[in-house]
Amino acid sequence: MTQDEMKRLAAQAALDYVEGGIVGVGTGSTVNHFIDCLAGIKGRIDGAVSSSEVSTERMKAHGIPVFDLNAVGDLDIYVDGADESNYRLELIKGGGGALTREKIVAAASKRFVCIADQAKLVDVLGKFPLPVEVIPMARSLVARELVRLGGTPVWREGFVTDNGNVILDVHHLEIVNPRELEQRLNNLPGVVTVGVFALRPADVLILGTPEGAKTLTADA
Ligand code: A5P
Repeated sequence: MTQDEMKRLAAQAALDYVEGGIVGVGTGSTVNHFIDCLAGIKGRIDGAVSSSEVSTERMKAHGIPVFDLNAVGDLDIYVDGADESNYRLELIKGGGGALTREKIVAAASKRFVCIADQAKLVDVLGKFPLPVEVIPMARSLVARELVRLGGTPVWREGFVTDNGNVILDVHHLEIVNPRELEQRLNNLPGVVTVGVFALRPADVLILGTPEGAKTLTADA
């Protein structure tokens, strides 16, 4: 089974958690499968809040109404992918560069359902370079701080986020305490969003595997 087929299995299984109302929708190739599945039940939901321009366009093409987060209250559910997850469902996200809006919509949601192929589950976060969204004028300043913390930041050249900022991908971090690192990096002037999602981890992780979709919860 291909990685893409595993992503699709996870996306399909996430539909079980959708109970109507307005659905928070993330970004990425796994979420693209979820959006396509969501289109099949669009009559049962009121619409979606999107975490990126790309996901917004895909949903609109399917005729799924997309709302501004400011126009709706808290969401019951947020469905998004991840670049890595540990067994506590703490995540690295931002490979697609949408981490800021993803973190906002996750924070506004009662339940965060993460969908991924089985290769994303790791013991320790950090093999995947950690994306950090930075205000452009602070790029070098933040990069020097990240080096002091033991990382190797690489500017994602030519990439601008939906919010007009830049991304530093930080290599060589072994993230044994994700909550502490998230808090620490959040405090650096110029940092907009850190791609560690540990202060608000996922509640459910659905992994696509060759044996079918497997569900993990943080307390399992
Ligand atoms: C987007 O910024 C990321 O956080 C994605 O959620 C992540 O990169 C997962 O992407 P795939 O579903 O394409 O693997």
